[in-house]
Amino acid sequence: MSTHDAVEVITTKRDGGSLSDSQIDWVVDAYTRGDVADEQMSSLAMAILLNGMEQREIARWTAAMIASGERMDFSALSRPTADKHSTGGVGDKITLPLAPLVAACGVAVPQLSGRGLGHTGGTLDKLEAIPGWRAALSNEEMMRQLEEVGAVICAAGDGLAPADKKLYALRDVTGTVEAIPLIASSIMSKKIAEGTGALVLDVKVGTGAFMKDLDRARELARTMVALGTDAGVRTTALLTDMSTPLGLTAGNAIEVAESVEVLAGGGPADVVELTVALAREMLAGAGVDGVDPADKLADGSAMDAWKAMIRAQGGDPDAALPEAKESHVVSAPATGVLTRLDAMAVGMAAWRLGAGRARKEDPVQAGAGVVWHARPGDEVTEGQPLFTLLTDEPARFERALASLEGGYDVEPAGTAYEPSSIVLERID
Ligand code: URA
Repeated sequence: MSTHDAVEVITTKRDGGSLSDSQIDWVVDAYTRGDVADEQMSSLAMAILLNGMEQREIARWTAAMIASGERMDFSALSRPTADKHSTGGVGDKITLPLAPLVAACGVAVPQLSGRGLGHTGGTLDKLEAIPGWRAALSNEEMMRQLEEVGAVICAAGDGLAPADKKLYALRDVTGTVEAIPLIASSIMSKKIAEGTGALVLDVKVGTGAFMKDLDRARELARTMVALGTDAGVRTTALLTDMSTPLGLTAGNAIEVAESVEVLAGGGPADVVELTVALAREMLAGAGVDGVDPADKLADGSAMDAWKAMIRAQGGDPDAALPEAKESHVVSAPATGVLTRLDAMAVGMAAWRLGAGRARKEDPVQAGAGVVWHARPGDEVTEGQPLFTLLTDEPARFERALASLEGGYDVEPAGTAYEPSSIVLERID
């Protein structure tokens, strides 16, 4: 006989009440087993979205989702572990240089990643552009690679927080993704179950991000930091700007190429700045000091770790990357200063060119995406290339061009431009 029933749990939250620990344990478990129906859970998710949850409820909900599956344990490794989670942005390739960089500093990085859905790209989609590279590893392979190379970026297995997998798919189709308690518990259940010792959260704010305003981003970051800390994971968060896309590329192979430039000691300044800032947080969380990640980019050791990481997963780090069959250049409409480049417009264009997917089962094009040839604050000359659009299917150009329209401003030379910093706030 069950201890609760779904209608009682739903009405408690519908009427603005707090769910008890036993109601939460019961409903998460019963939903995962199929005893609570999708329509009942979607009603509860909507009540949570509208009425919120206390931190105690969120922590219990997170624990219940962790308990629905396996928990990994890296305590047998000879080095400490640290991981990063980004809430997702346009041109956000940071995981690619970050994981080998932190490994080169002596901390193991067990990065379980996902594929992209919608306008933000997925880390696995980017890495799959590398010939031979495979995302699926067994737990034993992952452990061996962490010990030998120090960094793994692979697909999360089905065993981790299966309750979240089921609930996230339901939220996606019921308008309940945006609830902060549900986002925080979804992200943190997977990160805590993954078994990392330290965690840095990159919470994006701006037009291209999930969280469009600073207040909501701060609330999400604080909620997640509290969940991690209470679960014994040393957790900090950086709130970072996502009104402008990161770097100069959004796509798959082209983002890999840009990451390799960063690992070679070059690359766009914003990508380098954010990579190094996140690496410092991870090292501090893992208790490693006296190592400056910027030195490991400069001396080639981060690049060595990258090559070892790619090879260990079957990839050839020296192979040519796939290129799109077709390209289309958008020229600067006037001479002046690029004062705005909207992350959402660029993200939508890359997605429409085939770099992202509309449904989970869709394939992505490795070579598709957008390259921009100037960043806000740069001077441009009328007629110079401003964007290069890449795809295998030229029919896609028209809709991609439509999404870029209105997504950037070129103003007369001398127009004041206030550069904004990439890291907006730190939360611990
Ligand atoms: N990413 C997740 O993993 N879960 C959410 O709910 C939102 C973003």
